[in-house]
Amino acid sequence: MNILVTGAAGFIGSNYVHHRLNSSEADQVVALDALTYAGNRANLAELEDDPRLIFIEGSICDAQLVESVVREHQIGLLVHFAAESHVDRSIDGPDAFIEANIVGTHTLLRACKSVWGELGLAGGGHFHHVSTDEVYGTLGPEDPAFHERTPYAPNSPYAASKAASDHLVRSYNRTFGLRVTTSNCSNNYGPYQFPEKLIPLCILNVLAGRPLPIYGDGKQIRDWLYVEDHCRAIDSIIARGSVGDTYNVGGNNEWANIDVVRLLCALLDSRFQDDTDLAKRFPESPCAVGTSASTLIRFVDDRPGHDTRYAINAGKIGSELNFTPRENFETGLGMTVDWYLDNEVWWKSVQGKNNIPSAKN
Ligand SMILES: NC(=O)c1ccc[n+]([C@@H]2O[C@H](COP(=O)([O-])OP(=O)(O)OC[C@H]3O[C@@H](n4cnc5c(N)ncnc54)[C@H](O)[C@@H]3O)[C@@H](O)[C@H]2O)c1
Repeated sequence: MNILVTGAAGFIGSNYVHHRLNSSEADQVVALDALTYAGNRANLAELEDDPRLIFIEGSICDAQLVESVVREHQIGLLVHFAAESHVDRSIDGPDAFIEANIVGTHTLLRACKSVWGELGLAGGGHFHHVSTDEVYGTLGPEDPAFHERTPYAPNSPYAASKAASDHLVRSYNRTFGLRVTTSNCSNNYGPYQFPEKLIPLCILNVLAGRPLPIYGDGKQIRDWLYVEDHCRAIDSIIARGSVGDTYNVGGNNEWANIDVVRLLCALLDSRFQDDTDLAKRFPESPCAVGTSASTLIRFVDDRPGHDTRYAINAGKIGSELNFTPRENFETGLGMTVDWYLDNEVWWKSVQGKNNIPSAKN
């Protein structure tokens, strides 16, 4: 089966390509990515010599390109990650989110409908759409977790653009019979995450001795899932999910932002205690002189429209598809911290290319 992975040079897309090629012998993977600020060829560098991987630089909004890729590579499965994904950026400039997340998703759906129809694959090709729990809006402290029938109530332009793309995907199934599935997942963390997001930003700021900015009181609650578990969840939906259905994916792992940062600080404190070489590599870090990383925590003005709590009821994927995450937060965060400590060349090149500001999360 030939697979098209969109957004394959981004955080989750690149982890998915690694996961797919490591867990399957036969797949030909076509990786399509526009290489925006968030996309990095280096995320796929370890697979450069793998003949099963073909990389194409281009936009999902380019209808001609997308159609020719689906046709010429005889794509039977499309896994759609490409998106503008950072909430802060959607507040500063929503237009790019409308274009990539709504127009881009529609361009892909139209191409699949047209080419799979021509090839007689209309019922055979499979379109898996990767979405977010942010489409459901926000929860109060005692509200039940989001389930698949929770009404959509997106609060940021990012979440609204993802909600619109989810509806388009659904409509192509109901109206045109396209074989689609959708997953709505909670916050991911792990290797190759662009260092503007909370966890990698905090790891790198601790290493550089920069402040750890926490929005508001830091009590906003998120559910966290290790990225490899998300990849496994997507595979189980593609393999065994009901066509036309959506599946919520989460880690059953709710944490307040401030507690995530405190846990990260404790992990980094102990890495420095165990490995004296780290003090030489990162002399600006407070941990290099035995001071806790948590002394860098600073509270900053809250983000407008900041959702208070997200929580996922992942009962459907658990009971129907027998999916459970393998990692808990401590094991997953430990692996993530170690990956960033071991991959300084990667994050230095990403920071250098993008001139990443250090003051936001
Ligand atoms: N990161 C999370 O915690 C999380 C959680 C749930 C769902 N999601 C969803 O998963 C998907 C991937 O998220 P991520 O965190 O890996 O994002 P990311 O920002 O790291 O990667 C997005 C990738 O898409 C590419 N891209 C953007 N516009 C494009 C276009 N027009 N054409 C082709 N490529 C384009 C970028 O170059 C980048 O490589 C997104 O759809 C996001 O909504 C993310």
